[in-house]
Amino acid sequence: MSLTRDFFIALSKNQVLNSGAKKWGLKLGAGKVVAGTDIDSMMKSVKELNAEGIGATIDNLGEFVFNREEALEAKMQILETIEAIQKHGVAAHMSVKLTQVGLDVDHKFCLENMKEIVAAAADYAIFVNIDMEDYNHLQPTLDIVHELLKDYDNVGTVIQSYLYRSEKDLEALQNVRLRLVKGAYKEISEVSYQSKQDIDHNYLKLIKIRLQQDVFTSIATHDHVVIHEVKKFAKDNNIPRSRFEFQMLYGFRSEMQKELAQEGYAFTTYVPFGQDWYGYYMRRLAERPQNINLALKSLISK
Ligand code: FDA
Repeated sequence: MSLTRDFFIALSKNQVLNSGAKKWGLKLGAGKVVAGTDIDSMMKSVKELNAEGIGATIDNLGEFVFNREEALEAKMQILETIEAIQKHGVAAHMSVKLTQVGLDVDHKFCLENMKEIVAAAADYAIFVNIDMEDYNHLQPTLDIVHELLKDYDNVGTVIQSYLYRSEKDLEALQNVRLRLVKGAYKEISEVSYQSKQDIDHNYLKLIKIRLQQDVFTSIATHDHVVIHEVKKFAKDNNIPRSRFEFQMLYGFRSEMQKELAQEGYAFTTYVPFGQDWYGYYMRRLAERPQNINLALKSLISK
């Protein structure tokens, strides 16, 4: 792990900066990777993507919520976003982080909030994906996912290939729609692979296990080497294209996103919006030092 990565991951968790940033509006170049701070600007971006044959998974940005009022406010905003997806008739579903709706407040409270969200989405046949956060939240998140799955089938979650335990978690979620990622947080070597080589190796391993199962999988990466390998594996093994999609984040490799959709692969862009952009943006800077240029340019042009 590089020092730069550690530095930005640490910044992403800074509570003072997280809450301060909500008042700043989109700053430091975040506007390139966050689709505005309100529903109208986000919907405009989603419609542009849909026009290119690309679907959206919408993240009403938020995390590090430690009190009931803020969690309830976040839940209301997510319900409004679900209403907006239905009203505008766009090809889109939701991505939700459980810490946003009360996971750090109380397990039962968070579960009740999620039940309301998933039930509202189910009324419109909208899928809800539960993002995976840091390792401390992994088991509580999986517990809530399993509880929701007892009553709803429009819910899924994320598996991170940097964790040793992910293959087991994948098995336990065999019939569930999943997104596979490498993992965005900083985890210790007791629980996670540390080198890119090991993480990538496990990523391809998990993807190949999933693609051979008759269940839908989202492969969420900007890594062209992985994408190339997935295309080849799917072709060589007659995996139908209806069984998987590629996903990338809004504002990243936009040309490649369009190309994959034009080639006939199902494609979904992760579209974050809202005032709580800071932690999300810092993790993106941590992943890719080149992204820091965005931040620097925007500072210099002020
Ligand atoms: P990685 O960062 O390893 O890059 C591999 C190579 O790809 C680079 O060396 C470079 O050659 C190329 N590349 C990457 N980005 C590029 C760019 N912008 N331009 C040009 N070349 C580029 N994480 C998590 O922990 N929980 C979650 O719920 C999610 N959810 C999620 C949804 C979606 C849709 C995506 C795309 C990602 C996530 N993630 C996530 C984040 C994920 O875990 C991971 O941190 C990032 O996607 C970065 O890893 P990559 O697989 O993209 O490639």
